[in-house]
Amino acid sequence: MYDFKTTATDKPALWRDLLLAADGLTAGEPDAVANMANVAALLWEGLPDLNWAGFYRNVGGELVLGPFQGRAACIRIPFGKGVCGTAAASRTPQRVDDVRAFPGHIACDSASASELVVPIVHNGALISVIDLDSPLEGRFDKEDEAGCLELARLLAPRLAP
Ligand code: SME
Repeated sequence: MYDFKTTATDKPALWRDLLLAADGLTAGEPDAVANMANVAALLWEGLPDLNWAGFYRNVGGELVLGPFQGRAACIRIPFGKGVCGTAAASRTPQRVDDVRAFPGHIACDSASASELVVPIVHNGALISVIDLDSPLEGRFDKEDEAGCLELARLLAPRLAP
């Protein structure tokens, strides 16, 4: 059993602990599914106020559901559609305070109010995206975005085929 422990009292410290844990869980493991599954579980346990945490993978130019925690979700998302598809097509993080105001948002769970999606790129290829959803509006701030970007950099070579 892996026990995630943190004594963090602020968000940057929490992200530092999450990144250390993610590094430890995925170091030396070449299986992308195992790594995504463990990191989804870690984010779900470590970050407060989420209703979904997981990955969509680039499978032949389309996003396909990967390992996650939360309710069953949409399986396939075209590049350019919704928050995840926009992050994938633009290779730019998408931090959305109110998903209902985001054109083309795909409501997998009507409880979702805000969302953070960060692309994972390795050697010039879009590998997958990290997707976090919250039932609270404005749940994600610049510190969450920075933490997720660091996580994406760490995971990129460990999720690449
Ligand atoms: N809301 C996302 C779809 C994925 S779910 O949130 C798990 C979107 O608009 O891309």
